[in-house]
Amino acid sequence: MKIVGVSGALAGWKTNVMVHHVLEATKQINSNAVTELIDLRDVEVEFVRGEPLAFYNEDTFQVVNKIIEADIIIFGTPIYQASITGALKNLLDHLPVNALKQKVTGIVTTGSVDKHFLVSEYHLKPVLSYLKGLVPTISIFAHSESFNDVNEIVDQALIERIHALAAEVTQLQAGLNK
Ligand SMILES: Cc1cc2nc3c(=O)[nH]c(=O)nc-3n(C[C@H](O)[C@H](O)[C@H](O)COP(=O)(O)O)c2cc1C
Repeated sequence: MKIVGVSGALAGWKTNVMVHHVLEATKQINSNAVTELIDLRDVEVEFVRGEPLAFYNEDTFQVVNKIIEADIIIFGTPIYQASITGALKNLLDHLPVNALKQKVTGIVTTGSVDKHFLVSEYHLKPVLSYLKGLVPTISIFAHSESFNDVNEIVDQALIERIHALAAEVTQLQAGLNK
């Protein structure tokens, strides 16, 4: 089972840390899981120009294909201006319309405004559903205060939700293969 995590933060590390935790939790549940975390600050995904994927640079080509070849994709983003980051949206814009068909897609967000816990429901979930991804019932929003100064998670309830999300994506993916 291939599980790809995408961290859509170019500034801080909380998103990366949460996606990493989800990937580790899935490996605890399924020892056959092969995971990879793609941090968008480490790759040069070009802006979408409406051209075929082969016309873009190697990073763009590889990141899109890693998503297409995965069984589960965990999308992580900080909340920016009551939405997802432009970096993550640009990557999603590269995906063909059936890119997430027969795949499970987890959502992990972090923000400093509690009221924005539903942002992913309106700004990310519809995009993943449009791309035919199966979105679990659990999605995660973590307030930035759930982390200490070195970006470790200090909120036990968040750890438990991360494990619950890992369990649900794994179960859903197993169900898709029956
Ligand atoms: C440009 C920018 C816009 C932001 N807008 C919001 C926002 O609308 N709502 C919110 O809850 N947090 C907002 N934040 C705060 C970040 O979402 C928050 O600090 C998050 O935990 C950072 O995650 P990271 O460490 O992965 O970068 C914003 C931060 C930046 C840099």
